[in-house]
Amino acid sequence: MAIRSGLLRSARNDGEDMYDFKIAAADSATMYRDLASALEGLVAGETDGIANMANAAALIWETLPDVNWVGFYRNIGGELVLGPFQGRPACIRIPFGQGVCGAAAATRQVQRIDDVHAFAGHIACDSASESEIVVPMVRDGELIAVLDIDSPRKSRFSEEDEAGCVRLSEILAKAV
Ligand code: SME
Repeated sequence: MAIRSGLLRSARNDGEDMYDFKIAAADSATMYRDLASALEGLVAGETDGIANMANAAALIWETLPDVNWVGFYRNIGGELVLGPFQGRPACIRIPFGQGVCGAAAATRQVQRIDDVHAFAGHIACDSASESEIVVPMVRDGELIAVLDIDSPRKSRFSEEDEAGCVRLSEILAKAV
């Protein structure tokens, strides 16, 4: 395991090394397990949801290969509104039911799309995007936000990626 947990702990303070950690695992299941424990460490004890989403977006962006956008859309009064992210500037408001994010919000089902160009109504924020996964974050029966990850590679997201991202969204649903 390549997480430098001592440095992760120092992220709670003002240590100069606070972002100096890397997750590098031989297989995807181990990588997602390490990523989940790094995320738990990052959000532990912090109650500000925007701060936790911001650090989560940065951690996932730094860890997952072949991604061009990682971030959140929050459920604000029944509309998805852009939250913390890494990648190119994106569309700000998405109605439930529109695009991949809106489909995830409306159905509360993970949307794992091998080819975004084949998805009717896909909203192209970055023309480089070829595949996408969107995971709803639900707490106490309420949709809080969706986690959206885009890739410039077709069929980037496997069932293992889906299981890993669902675990990440479960951790975050309690922390935002
Ligand atoms: N492609 C998304 C819109 C959000 S961007 O990818 C950041 C969609 O169709 O919902």
